[in-house]
Amino acid sequence: MSDSVIKAGIFLLVLLGAFLWIGRSITNLTGGEKTVSAAVEINPEGGEAIYWGKGRCFTCHSVGDRGSAVRGPNHGQFGERFALPMGARAVERAKERSKKTGETFTAVDYLIESLSNPGAYVVEGYKNEMAVVFAPPISLNLDEIKAVVTYLQIQGGELDMEAIDSNPSDVTKKFYAKIAAAQAAGGGDPDLGAEVFADNCSECHALNGEGGEVGPDLTGIAAKGLKYIDKSIRSPASKIVAGFEVSEVIKKDGRKITGIKTRDEVGEIDITKADGDVVTIARVDIKKITEDKTKTLMPADLIEALTVKDFQDVLSFLILQKQKVAEK
Ligand code: HEC
Ligand code: HEC
Repeated sequence: MSDSVIKAGIFLLVLLGAFLWIGRSITNLTGGEKTVSAAVEINPEGGEAIYWGKGRCFTCHSVGDRGSAVRGPNHGQFGERFALPMGARAVERAKERSKKTGETFTAVDYLIESLSNPGAYVVEGYKNEMAVVFAPPISLNLDEIKAVVTYLQIQGGELDMEAIDSNPSDVTKKFYAKIAAAQAAGGGDPDLGAEVFADNCSECHALNGEGGEVGPDLTGIAAKGLKYIDKSIRSPASKIVAGFEVSEVIKKDGRKITGIKTRDEVGEIDITKADGDVVTIARVDIKKITEDKTKTLMPADLIEALTVKDFQDVLSFLILQKQKVAEK
């Protein structure tokens, strides 16, 4: 083999090596952290990694003199403004909240609330601009959120694993349920979902005693499961709820009325139309009445009217609609 061939070979090998090295560096720089989805340990070390990594807390918060972000409050001890680090501050905030509402509220309740419903208490001097950490783009899962809370709590406070993990308070349990539901529904926000529902669905559907009567009452709809609810919205006609089949009435004068037969008597019937109007028709005026088991009054293009985010939000809202407990 000639010298020049060997030289060329070595040159190619070096070039290939350089390529691989650059490629890996780029992967590490850009999406590296996203591919790491190993289960997090629910402890302060696990939380620290989330805080300074996937959770992106560091883009708005600092801890003492670690980090430089100031959009949100410092989570450590820092100057006069942050005399109390977050763990100790949470105890104070919780006391303040309990006093105001008259209900028990613990430091852990406060920390979980800060993450799952940041708008509930906005720290003075800041804007209500913290993102919900369980929704995209951050999308922390429940264990990751618990881990972050342990990390926040050890900033000047006492770690309470029982309250965070093994035996949470009723308030914390409610937040956990909300986070779990939102995640099961693709990361929606149930609070925003309530608004989507009010704007797009409540004209036809009642919920806990309020709303329209064109469609079924959705109180307790969570019992039918996420898949069912998802399908009901995506393709309403796929399965018609019994009693909500659409009838088409052709009257002797040629007029056509389409809707759900909501009253059926010897002399007359009621047809409820999609807009909620109820039309009473005398039997003698009816030429023909047909029931179409493939039709529904629920709009088929509803899903197109909603953004993906709206859809996820309303799903996570509905999956929380457990049967209302009878009031005593
Ligand atoms: C887009 C910026 C932003 C991001 C990202 C962000 N926060 Fe915040 N955070 C804020 C702002 C602004 C406030 C103050 C307003 C408020 O109370 O909602 C705040 C408040 C808080 C509080 C209450 C502080 C106090 O003094 O009572 C906690 C706790 C908190 N954030 C934790 C976190 C954690 C943990 C993460 C990461 C998982 C995070 N935040 C991500 C902006 C952000
Ligand atoms: C114009 C009236 C109308 C609107 C608006 C409407 N629906 Fe419906 N919906 C119906 C009717 C009628 C049915 C029953 C017939 C059927 O199964 O399609 C129904 C059925 C359902 C069901 C199945 C209920 C059950 O008991 O099994 C769900 C879930 C549902 N709708 C959710 C929604 C959501 C969420 C929205 C808003 C994003 C919405 N609907 C908007 C009329 C409506």
